[in-house]
Amino acid sequence: MANEPIILCDNLVKIYKTKDIEVLALQGLEISIDRGELMAIIGNSGSGKSTFLNMIGGLDRPSAGKLIVDGKDLFKLSERELVEYKRSTVGFVWQNNARNLLPYLTAWQNVQMPMLFEKSAQKKKERALELLDMVGLNRKKNSRLSQLSGGEQQRVAIAIALANSPKILLADEPTGAVDVKTGAYILDMFRQINKDTGLTVVIVTHDRMLSKKVNRVAAIRDGKISSERIMKESYIERLNEITSLTEIDEVQDEFAILDRAGRVQIPRDVLDQLGVEGNKVRMEVKNGELVIRKAGK
Ligand SMILES: Nc1ncnc2c1ncn2[C@@H]1O[C@H](COP(=O)(O)OP(=O)(O)O)[C@@H](O)[C@H]1O
Ligand SMILES: [Mg+2]
Repeated sequence: MANEPIILCDNLVKIYKTKDIEVLALQGLEISIDRGELMAIIGNSGSGKSTFLNMIGGLDRPSAGKLIVDGKDLFKLSERELVEYKRSTVGFVWQNNARNLLPYLTAWQNVQMPMLFEKSAQKKKERALELLDMVGLNRKKNSRLSQLSGGEQQRVAIAIALANSPKILLADEPTGAVDVKTGAYILDMFRQINKDTGLTVVIVTHDRMLSKKVNRVAAIRDGKISSERIMKESYIERLNEITSLTEIDEVQDEFAILDRAGRVQIPRDVLDQLGVEGNKVRMEVKNGELVIRKAGK
């Protein structure tokens, strides 16, 4: 069990049906995420990032395929089991944190809110304080939310997401609404939490720079994983020392993703560079390498 991936997505499909159109938001997405991983998901707007996170978070049901999270088959959970799953297995942080914060309560009170199943008020308070410590907000525990900056509110949101000790922390563009410096600080916090607690963390981000500070980055294109970048061993230890993000281009290796049927997506810009037009290319194995070139003579 322990070696099994905590998230296993196989041929995952999500179709949104509205009155007159169907949107294929996930088109057979395949990925497996290990326990204790810290990874980022990147991709253009509309590529399916939030849909993917919402499926893992149990906020919405997938249409087809397979999705197993922490040993639970998300297709088979009853509504009641899903409620329990959302409370105990996953914690969520959004870009716009207003949806899980109460502005008239203090940071400390806000963090106690989700702890519905802890009966002892004293234990709630202690646990909330622990979490505020973890996100570096102990000093501001008695400030009302409305008195905190955007970055501080986001840290409260992270503490709230951790309140019920989830196994997986999901963050959908958590740095999208804060400045670059705060964004980097928040990302470092995710890294620290991941390191200290072994929590699995999946972060959706637009920010290429931030995505380079995690061990694995999966890129989604048109509802499928198209490529992945993996941190080089030699950098994992050094990452904290790296301050200049310009040298960071070499820290990860990039891989194209081969799906079960043997398909690889060739990025549009690569096709353009090759001068490929239409839907045919020439492909041959040469000296142990696969060569793809434009059709023609
Ligand atoms: N509730 C919904 N109803 C209909 N279409 C949706 C809904 N949510 C997302 N979509 C569509 O699904 C696709 C993927 O969206 P989304 O997952 O939000 O992308 P991203 O987070 O990468 O920007 C888009 O085409 C979007 O318009
Ligand atoms: Mg989104």
